[in-house]
Amino acid sequence: MRIAIIGLGYVGLANVAFLAESHRHELVAFDTDESKIALLKKGTFPFSENGIAAILKKEAKRILFTTKEQELTGAEAYFFCVGTPAQDDGQADLHYLENALAMVGRVAQKGYLIIRSTVPVGTAKRIQDDYSGFRVISLPEFLSEGSALEDESNPFRIVVGARQEEDFLFIRNLRKNDLNRGVPFHEMSNESAELCKYASNLFLAMKISYINEMARFAETLGADIVDVADAMGADPRIGHAMLKAGVGYGGSCFPKDGQALLAQAGASGTSLLLSEATSAINRTQPLYFLKKIEKYYPAMKGVRIALFGLAYKARTGDIRSAVSLSLTPHLLANGVQLSAYDPSPEARANYQKLFPGVKVVASLAEAVAGADALLLLSEESEFASLDEAFLCSTMKGRVIFDGRNLYSVHHFRYFDYISVGRANGTRITEIKP
Ligand code: UDX
Repeated sequence: MRIAIIGLGYVGLANVAFLAESHRHELVAFDTDESKIALLKKGTFPFSENGIAAILKKEAKRILFTTKEQELTGAEAYFFCVGTPAQDDGQADLHYLENALAMVGRVAQKGYLIIRSTVPVGTAKRIQDDYSGFRVISLPEFLSEGSALEDESNPFRIVVGARQEEDFLFIRNLRKNDLNRGVPFHEMSNESAELCKYASNLFLAMKISYINEMARFAETLGADIVDVADAMGADPRIGHAMLKAGVGYGGSCFPKDGQALLAQAGASGTSLLLSEATSAINRTQPLYFLKKIEKYYPAMKGVRIALFGLAYKARTGDIRSAVSLSLTPHLLANGVQLSAYDPSPEARANYQKLFPGVKVVASLAEAVAGADALLLLSEESEFASLDEAFLCSTMKGRVIFDGRNLYSVHHFRYFDYISVGRANGTRITEIKP
């Protein structure tokens, strides 16, 4: 079988790698970005994502990387993995998907159109009406960046939305290894599958906003949100996942999926109160944390802050909707001098493009040298194992603002320690060890 995968971001490339490794199909991997395709043809992977590069290299002979639409001819199935970013009004921008569909419509008359991109409910039906010779299947992806291939290869469940039994059969065949080893298949209408994707993401985001709201409250009560969340999560009905309080969620999914769902609900006159609150709490969470910095430094002008964590989470170079992006303008407007660091060169380069005036450095040591304060915004293991003696030897000031609760409150002896939903830790002495 010839399968085409259109859109080679982390979802598309995880699909290419998964299909290459688990099947003997002929794969056509398409993207409009000439430079990305040139890199892939040379065996160079355009971004860091566990495990994918090795498979693409190993299976290179069976994958045709291309920017030419004619190469898409004759495929039995087309996987659409293009981005659906938020527009200014929050609605999902479907123009990449529409372009990709139009292109397939020019080179083929039949086949399966498999929608992996996250799309507003009703999109598959509209596509089915417009492309009546094809069969439209909704196959939402539930991948996290950093573990995209692992999530694709070992899914918690497979959600399939379609209209006819033969469409479900096609996916059951394609994923028969999963079926045989007992991965649950959930077969439903296209609309239900589309909503399932949004509802799942919003639920996870809601857990994060819930614990962040509780964290703010815990602080006013003298409670410790880490203790609270640990004990809450021990109840399997609650679970520990997505219960880490912090400066809020970012990334390419949660923020834009929240916006898209709310935009669609608004357009149909429905109010989604929990989804609204989830997004609102997340918008204000970085500002709540900023207030702590402002309280510590009533005059922030000239304060030198080493900002650690430019990507939206650990082990990725992706800075989309990262907290670093929302906090930086406020810090700069207050006259703070930033030295910004992330272990990912991609995150550093992307951040630097947005903030050309900020000093971005390539090592942790360079970032903290002479700094008054340290601000931690992501959960990198490098940030969770700081050497206090080293910090004392190189930093001018003695305060750590930890937006991810990476340490226990009294971990640092020579630094004031300010985190999320917990009492502040106070240094025991001014004297250098
Ligand atoms: C998420 C979902 O996990 C995935 O199922 C979906 O398909 C796409 O969106 P991803 O955006 O890659 O994946 O990252 P994830 O690891 O879920 O983290 C998202 C954000 O939430 C990050 O900014 C992270 O720092 C934050 N987060 C996560 C918290 O603040 N607290 C938590 O407990 C967990």
